[in-house]
Amino acid sequence: MKKFLSVVGARPNFMKIAPVHLEFLKYKDSVQHLICHTGQHYDEKMSKIFFDDLNISPPDFNLNVGSGSHSVQTANIMIGFEKVLIAEKPDLLIVVGDVNSTIAGSLVAKKMNIPVAHIEAGLRSFDRTMPEEINRVLTDAISDYLFVTEQSGIDNLEKEGVDKSKIFFTGNVMIDSLVHSMKKIDESPVLSSLGLAKHDYILCTLHRPTNVDNKAALEKILATLNSFAEKKKIVFPVHPRTRANMKEFGIGNDLSPNILFTDPIGYCDFLRLVKNASLTITDSGGIQEETTYLGVPCVTLRDNTERPITVQIGSNYLAGTDVSKLAGFVTNILNGDIKKSIVPPLWDGKAAERICRVLTSI
Ligand code: UD1
Repeated sequence: MKKFLSVVGARPNFMKIAPVHLEFLKYKDSVQHLICHTGQHYDEKMSKIFFDDLNISPPDFNLNVGSGSHSVQTANIMIGFEKVLIAEKPDLLIVVGDVNSTIAGSLVAKKMNIPVAHIEAGLRSFDRTMPEEINRVLTDAISDYLFVTEQSGIDNLEKEGVDKSKIFFTGNVMIDSLVHSMKKIDESPVLSSLGLAKHDYILCTLHRPTNVDNKAALEKILATLNSFAEKKKIVFPVHPRTRANMKEFGIGNDLSPNILFTDPIGYCDFLRLVKNASLTITDSGGIQEETTYLGVPCVTLRDNTERPITVQIGSNYLAGTDVSKLAGFVTNILNGDIKKSIVPPLWDGKAAERICRVLTSI
């Protein structure tokens, strides 16, 4: 019996590991798959609700590290996680995405000579001021199996000198979760409970430090949203980082009642909101992919994206942090000027199947 351990920590990790965990159940005679939650995200609405929505059992271990500066958080994960690895001695560590839990877990495992598999490898924004870019580059550099979601990932890894034999183009596990949950998503009552009609609202999420940690930047974005709210309702589930900053800066209190601020929303309810929105405005990575799969226009408030396929063939528009560009895209989209988009190769709900086939054959 082989023992594989996955580490997760932040909200976007949970929907990536769920399909992998469920797929490993098919191999339960030969593989034991355990999940360690670092506790990077700990609010019920940022964490537990996803395990419930995605039908995965609670994590086998929880390090409860909580929030802190990057160094404090990363170091605390490493200290706690080393104890788990010493006790469990897994044959392989699986990490997903690009959060602090991803690099912390990989680093501990590699120093103990435990092989590491990175799911969602090779993505690059080429912006090393982003903490996620540091996490991606370092995790890929020490991983043994690199599972890639789009062609740019293969190209980037090859340019960095990664041996071709370590790279596997397997598709997108985040889309697996979306495909597997579609029935539950369509049954979510969230539209009626928020008083919304299909295709009659804009959905907005913001949490990147460049947009929300700076008062002037956040104020400008909120003022621009306020101008859209004259024409369309806006639903804005607020990330805890953004909520804390709005409070600290004393902003966002005098906005149109047409902007509906909510707490963070669970997986199925949130995806129902995405699926039926006129458009989304976001700085998230995962939402750029989910909107592309669903064919919903997405305006991304970032200067770059590590997911270029969503702009090249998907429904994503890169607006940068310039709000006038945002306003231009939103006006065009609301006027029906929408680019054609297609679903990228292998975003078909079977990525976890391909990944587990590779990992069980090593
Ligand atoms: C993290 C990831 C980011 C990912 C995002 C998704 C890193 C470097 N960043 O950013 O890539 O896109 O998760 O949400 O790993 N907080 C709570 N409750 C929680 C979690 C956070 O109140 O359950 C608050 C705390 O004030 C905390 C702040 O949010 O200090 C930031 O949390 P943190 O995990 O450090 O980074 P995120 O901004 O969530």
